[in-house]
Amino acid sequence: MFFLKIFLLSMLIAALGWVSATENVITCFGRVQRLSCDTGFISVQSAIYGRTDSTVCSAGRPHLETQNTQCSSSVPLISQRCNGQSACEFKTDDLGSSDPCVGTFKYYNTTYNCIQARLSMTCEGGYSTLDCGNNVIQITSANYGRTDRTICSEGLPSRLTEDTFCFAPDTLTSVVSRCNYKRSCVLEATNAIFTDPCVGTYKYLAVSYFCRPAVTSVTCEGKSATLTCESGILQILSANYGRTDSTTCSAGRPVGQIKKTDCYATNTQTEMTKRCEGKTSCVVPATNSVFSDPCVGTYKYLTAVYSCVLNEGFAFNRLASDSAVKNNREKYHF
Ligand SMILES: *[C@@H]1O[C@H](CO)[C@@H](O)[C@H](O)[C@H]1NC(C)=O
Repeated sequence: MFFLKIFLLSMLIAALGWVSATENVITCFGRVQRLSCDTGFISVQSAIYGRTDSTVCSAGRPHLETQNTQCSSSVPLISQRCNGQSACEFKTDDLGSSDPCVGTFKYYNTTYNCIQARLSMTCEGGYSTLDCGNNVIQITSANYGRTDRTICSEGLPSRLTEDTFCFAPDTLTSVVSRCNYKRSCVLEATNAIFTDPCVGTYKYLAVSYFCRPAVTSVTCEGKSATLTCESGILQILSANYGRTDSTTCSAGRPVGQIKKTDCYATNTQTEMTKRCEGKTSCVVPATNSVFSDPCVGTYKYLTAVYSCVLNEGFAFNRLASDSAVKNNREKYHF
């Protein structure tokens, strides 16, 4: 039983953690739209109201109402209502969308992913690294304590593992402040960080999280970078105005202008944060007048890595952690 559980757990950790296939749902105006994920949480990629196709939602409609296929407007309300939930549905005529093309019969076209949580388990006294590569960590639940007899129990006397109602109250806050929106973080399962919620019990740190996609934007010197979020607000993860390779933005440039590859404007991240963070979009010129010139004579470019995040404390975080905890408890007794 114990080995089976560990085996399943490692299979789970290996298999999950990335976005699963993209789903698309079309709903004619007035009907009910339902988004759902068998496992994981909804993350809406786009939600469009209008008509870009003449055949869908055309049955029984006069020709005139289906011929305009240049009509679309985005519906942020759908991501606000559905992101972070495992299922959500609504009647489309209750959404109150303003009419982007009067006289055309419209439909809702929503594209979403199901984001899968990863689990990390660390036995008391150990360390673990959460790593999302180029993406960023979003914590959905965390507990330091014990809710299961078998996890982190090998070779221990049973009195150390029998209390399975053990929770350190500030685990989530502490893990969020160490890891959220970072590319990787190291966690230590210790009383010194989380306090001891059940003296005499051998504990473990259980964390579930997912990797939120991040975007890389590259803009050659003299042009302007446009950073945009369809849902959420901009968070700058890293940025540099300068040159770190000889191929990016090199077309038609003399060798002398592209051979220096260790050029960094140290104020880039601060400047980008000031101009972009917390907004839904921003335009920043990739010029010396914005960042000053870190390497005179070199043709430079602006690189910005950013993510679209929802405001901390926003419904998303709460819903995501509720459903993650529920899913994981049910499936893995965690
Ligand atoms: C729905 O939206 C997606 C993404 O924007 C688009 O590729 C697709 O063609 C749309 N489908 C219809 C029927 O409008």
